[in-house]
Amino acid sequence: RIAGPCGLVLFGVTGDLSRKKVMPAIYDLASRGLLPPGFSLVGYARRDWADEDFAQVVHDSVKQYARTEFREEVWEQLAEGFRFVQGDFSDDVAFDTLRQTILDLDRVRGTRGNHAFYLSIPPKFFPDVIGQLKEHGLADPGRDSWRRVVVEKPFGSDLKSAQALNATIHEVFPPESVFRIDHYLGKETVQNILAMRFANAMFEPIWNSNYVDHVQITMAEDIGIGGRAGYYDGIGAARDVIQNHLLQLMALIAMEEPTSFEADNLRLEKQKVLSSVVLPRRLDLHTARGQYLEGWAGGEKVIGYKQEQDIPQDSTTETFAAIKLEIENRRWAGVPFYLRHGKRLGRRVTEVAVVFKRAPHLPFTETATEELTQNALVIRVQPDEGITIRFGSKVPGSAMEIRDVNMDFAYGGSFTESSPEAYERLILDVLLGDPPLFPQHVEVELSWKILDPIVQYWAKHGQPDTYDSGTWGPESADKMLARDGRTWRRP
Ligand code: BG6
Repeated sequence: RIAGPCGLVLFGVTGDLSRKKVMPAIYDLASRGLLPPGFSLVGYARRDWADEDFAQVVHDSVKQYARTEFREEVWEQLAEGFRFVQGDFSDDVAFDTLRQTILDLDRVRGTRGNHAFYLSIPPKFFPDVIGQLKEHGLADPGRDSWRRVVVEKPFGSDLKSAQALNATIHEVFPPESVFRIDHYLGKETVQNILAMRFANAMFEPIWNSNYVDHVQITMAEDIGIGGRAGYYDGIGAARDVIQNHLLQLMALIAMEEPTSFEADNLRLEKQKVLSSVVLPRRLDLHTARGQYLEGWAGGEKVIGYKQEQDIPQDSTTETFAAIKLEIENRRWAGVPFYLRHGKRLGRRVTEVAVVFKRAPHLPFTETATEELTQNALVIRVQPDEGITIRFGSKVPGSAMEIRDVNMDFAYGGSFTESSPEAYERLILDVLLGDPPLFPQHVEVELSWKILDPIVQYWAKHGQPDTYDSGTWGPESADKMLARDGRTWRRP
């Protein structure tokens, strides 16, 4: 799958995401031969830069973050298609220049009018940029060409703002031209959830409330908020990550088999899950939130959230969130889904653990099964990508004694192919016009519907609990599971 003639216009070239993810991914795609030879990249920002300055910024980012080896011939061919346009997001003259730049590129690089506009900018600027694209005829593809828009989360900060954002975008771009990036869907291990479930006979028969006791979805990070106070404070863990990445993971774990892997069919099944989610009635008992204090990370002393730069002393933003959800349908009734995410936790790990009920009967003595816990299937999203199945096995020896063992599938051990970085996969799909991995506005709005009441409840209840950096979150999160007679996994 190689993209046809096209280019990309990147808004927000000075941002972290552009430098760390988008630019390196473009180089990696070029280096793997997946971009058309005349591919063009136009940077748009306020800086007073010439094309060469922009090229230098891309160069530095590629050198630092690209995954493939730096090759002069790949770089040179790619860099010939770099242009820079200076302006702010409501600058008429600059958008005229952008239009002219694109027309020139169509001529000299053969991009044939096919361009994607990548909005790697805060959503408050979306209306300006989208409006300008329309005003200057940039959203209109003309005959036999395409125009697409790529937007990054956050897709709003609640249902209302998400609806407004979607309305703004759809006024100008039709739904099939809008690509919303949730980079978790670009991860190989996340795509493998559907392969595992629907390409095999052995998992699906037990994938329901008859056999599954509960599901735990964990996304733990050891990093703090770094320099992102401006974005993060007031947003917090639930809106930053649970609303998008973790609810998407849950939807993939819980959905029914789609008629096909076409975007509409996939989205329909995910939407059915999201619209069947119910919140616990007692949010005080079945949710937990926390803010990190100072502590240790990777052997180093680290500061607490309130000591981070630009964080107000009375900030109530949570850096840890755990919630319990249920899905009211025949397959999942009565099976809790526990979702948790936190920064500055013990280590970086994302996993989905499907924990099974105990065997209905154990024909062993009580002492024989003392060390046996519940069977579990753990999808290791990252790092150490793979799948583990935990089950009981006889301990070698003369007595019948049973203990948990793990059966492991690791990508490294089974495949020689390497996994593309999520952004590589997603940017390529944008250029190919391939939509299955991009959530549609309905999913985004359904996710906010789930989250809004929780965030509103927290907002009314003052300060979050606290936890020491390097631990696994606030005590309240452990109590939340203990109330249900369960414990969190310690990955
Ligand atoms: C982003 C969040 O969506 O995902 C960040 O905004 C988070 O806060 C990041 O650190 C984690 O991504 P990954 O791919 O490193 O798990």
